[in-house]
Amino acid sequence: MSDAPKKNYFARKSLEVLLARHEAEAGDGLKKALGWGSLLALGIGGIIGAGIFVLTGTAAAKYAGPGVMISFLLSGLACTFVALCYAELAALMPVSGSTYTYAYVTLGELFAWVIGWNLVLEYAAGAATVAVGWAGYFTRVLKGFGLTLPPEISSAYFASSGTGDAHGLFNVPAAGIVLLLTWLLVRGTTESSKFNNVIVAIKVTVVLLVIFVGAGYVNSANWTPLVPENTGEFGVFGWSGVVRGASVVFFAYIGFDSVSTAAQEAQRPQRDVPIGILGSLVICTVLYVAVAAVATGVVSYKELNVPDPIALAMDHTGATWISWVVKFGALAGLTTAILVLLFGQTRVFYAMAHDGLLPPIFARLHDEYRTPAISQIMIGVIVAIAAGLFPIDLLGEMVSIGTLAAFALVCTAVVNLRRSDPERHRPFRAPGCAPSFPWAPALGVLSCFALMVALPLDTWLRLFIWTGIGLAIYFGYGVKHVRHD
Ligand code: ALA
Repeated sequence: MSDAPKKNYFARKSLEVLLARHEAEAGDGLKKALGWGSLLALGIGGIIGAGIFVLTGTAAAKYAGPGVMISFLLSGLACTFVALCYAELAALMPVSGSTYTYAYVTLGELFAWVIGWNLVLEYAAGAATVAVGWAGYFTRVLKGFGLTLPPEISSAYFASSGTGDAHGLFNVPAAGIVLLLTWLLVRGTTESSKFNNVIVAIKVTVVLLVIFVGAGYVNSANWTPLVPENTGEFGVFGWSGVVRGASVVFFAYIGFDSVSTAAQEAQRPQRDVPIGILGSLVICTVLYVAVAAVATGVVSYKELNVPDPIALAMDHTGATWISWVVKFGALAGLTTAILVLLFGQTRVFYAMAHDGLLPPIFARLHDEYRTPAISQIMIGVIVAIAAGLFPIDLLGEMVSIGTLAAFALVCTAVVNLRRSDPERHRPFRAPGCAPSFPWAPALGVLSCFALMVALPLDTWLRLFIWTGIGLAIYFGYGVKHVRHD
């Protein structure tokens, strides 16, 4: 009989070891470049993107009518429960890796791998999704200047089924923007963060302009009825439509959690990371509900199923300048969303490579820039290829299901750690004291699950296939190289 110790797939990472390593590495690891303002901007930069500029129209026209305002509220509420949990864990473990690391400390190695692997769906596939949305706006801006790109080089090879979209070869603008931003990220966090702050300011200004200029043109008759009558089919108008609308616009909120991936680069993570996570989510919820109110108030919701619904609503005000401002604002908004998602992906891989679950190349920092340059470039190339080949709806659904799974796990992790380590000082506590009744984490899990159930069955199948590929990599590589030091 062999004396080799049995492999424990559920070995947990020690919080003490983790924090000690974090201390020891301070100074020679990633640069501590980010204050609370930059973290807030990072959050808003990641959140506002294709969701508000594209999906508001889809959700209103197809599912919720003017009730899309309520859809945004519901989805924002679900994310708030999750954000409270993220804030607690990120303040307690201000290290790179985010959800992956939280899962490692609380649920063990195998769960950590599975969740890290599914985070690729949120970050890398998310970046590809937004890049496709960016390319759509870009193509329309070019058209406005009289320049029409041939569909072969401006739409995906795999066209969405049933949409009648032109079937292209490769979406060159989508791949191009990913590669450009990859180059910027390789150059350094400080530089990227400065660039992000400027563009976030532009995009928030544009969103505020839409709200304040649009408010003057609202015709309240467009809001009646607030929730159009259900057609007889579940999810098509009526209250079930409002809920389905919430699962569609959920995509618009993804990104608040990316602040936690930057915790290791925060100057004062215990205070600043909760401010960044919760602050950006609250600001965006208010903005989203207001934009949805204006869009459905200025024009009938039936007209909003177009790739640029907010620009279309502004066209109805008669002030053409604002429609142009919105198009450029959307481009800026989508740009920073891609930037933050690409950034988040490398930081998750950085943590996984540190633990030996991925090859060391993903943790190697560039000598001068102090960024994981090689990893950033490899991820950039793969994301660019995905953005060039796949349509937005397929990518978007995969992002949502992967992210919701990760979010549910974060809520579970909070409860788990409160039970196993109740005495530990928590710089920030999500309300609701486990084990009596952890209401914030419990409602977080429930609402994530409800939103997942609203997604189509084939998205679930793809999630299982994706997880299967991840497990094959884990058993082929991770198991043999994992380190618990
Ligand atoms: N929340 C981001 C967006 O809407 C991902 O584009």
